[in-house]
Amino acid sequence: MFSKDTYTSRRERLKKEVGAGLILLPGNEEVGMNYKDNLYHFRQDSTFLYFTGIDRADLVFIFDIDNNKEYLLGDDLTIEQLVWTGPVEPLSSFAAKSGIENVLSYNEAAAMLKKAATAKKQIHYIMPYRGDIAIRISEWLGIPYSSLKQQSSLTLIRAVINQRAYKSAEEIIQIEESINITAQMQLKAIELGKAGLTEYEIAGHVHGTAISGGGNLSFPIILTTNGQFLHNHVGKSKLESGKLLLCDCGAENSMHYAGDLTRTSPVDKKFTPRQKEVYEIVLHAQLEAIKALAPGKLFRDVHFLAAEKLTEGLKSLGIIKGDVKEAVAHGAHTLFFQCGLGHMMGLDVHDMENLGEEYVGYTETLKKSTEFGTRSLRLGRALEPGFVVTVEPGLYFVPDLIDSWRAANKLTQFIDYDKADTFKDFGGIRIEDDYLITDTGGQLLGKPLAKTIAEIEDLKA
Ligand code: GLY
Ligand code: MN
Repeated sequence: MFSKDTYTSRRERLKKEVGAGLILLPGNEEVGMNYKDNLYHFRQDSTFLYFTGIDRADLVFIFDIDNNKEYLLGDDLTIEQLVWTGPVEPLSSFAAKSGIENVLSYNEAAAMLKKAATAKKQIHYIMPYRGDIAIRISEWLGIPYSSLKQQSSLTLIRAVINQRAYKSAEEIIQIEESINITAQMQLKAIELGKAGLTEYEIAGHVHGTAISGGGNLSFPIILTTNGQFLHNHVGKSKLESGKLLLCDCGAENSMHYAGDLTRTSPVDKKFTPRQKEVYEIVLHAQLEAIKALAPGKLFRDVHFLAAEKLTEGLKSLGIIKGDVKEAVAHGAHTLFFQCGLGHMMGLDVHDMENLGEEYVGYTETLKKSTEFGTRSLRLGRALEPGFVVTVEPGLYFVPDLIDSWRAANKLTQFIDYDKADTFKDFGGIRIEDDYLITDTGGQLLGKPLAKTIAEIEDLKA
């Protein structure tokens, strides 16, 4: 945990911004994998964690703003439960470290919330992403499940984003620790990425590296020789000479801050000439995007700058023709770059995605696109000092997508389909690093990790 001051001042600000009523922040519960007591790895809810720092299941935090009283609700383990788990820190101790004055039993939540609801106090909650928490809120507040989202509090959502979007110096230390663990995971993937091994054999070691770092994964590992599919998780394919291995992975450290890096390396010791050409295009687009990071700059503009650089490269390969800017304006690049340039990162790898991309990544005046490709850009708004973002351009040659666009005669003025067909066996390349927006630009987070062709080939040698 951070110091008590961190959590009390975060909650004080939250109280001020929400203004009146009650703030209800449920922590996560344990979830059974295949029966109740065989549990998934526990992950605390990030907003609960941000405002309380308490990494324990089955808790609720309630802030009665009108009476200026904070409550942690939960139960200490009974002696019968301790027989199985060993000693567990009492809730009073967690509450003291977090600066929360009142500790109540979990069961008292129902009565407290019912009383507030009867008194017509506004109870601010965030739409839960887990079914068990949704059922609880629905029962506590007497709101049918189908109305939960509509009645969730936009005031609370905005107040949470207003804090979590700006990372403090102590958070940056945690994020850098996670990125450095993630870099070790990447080195493991590059080292083991040799012909004859299967994807999962390598991924097991990559996952182990995350656990050895004191935490776990910040999202399921993407480790694949089919890098053309954006989120192709670990498969069973054997690595073959001539292929590329794309590894997109992240650790979260013991404080649950995320890292997220991608490297693409050859299965052989060296890239082929064609792989080098495409790699240089993606790397150039990433470096140009990084140079463009600055406070006040729309991340959407940085995304389109990267799209333009990728399109220039595709033109040099003969896949795209005509005017590059016009091709991008028509979305021709989305045949090969079907996603966004990056996203915010913090306690979640896609930070605060559960609060709604329209609030986290966009504004009242800047709305998310509905077009294929650009609609997958999670962050469009102007960058501000304290934001942490990923920069992850890529080129992805998806045979079925190329076929479907060709069948529809889509953008034939910009796309040479015969040339594109020659890349159907290529796969995909993505390069990803994590940046802090400062007063002057973007600052690389974590120690630099091999990225140029020469650096990757050096590792392979
Ligand atoms: N690293 C996975 C993603 O950004 O979607
Ligand atoms: Mn990412």
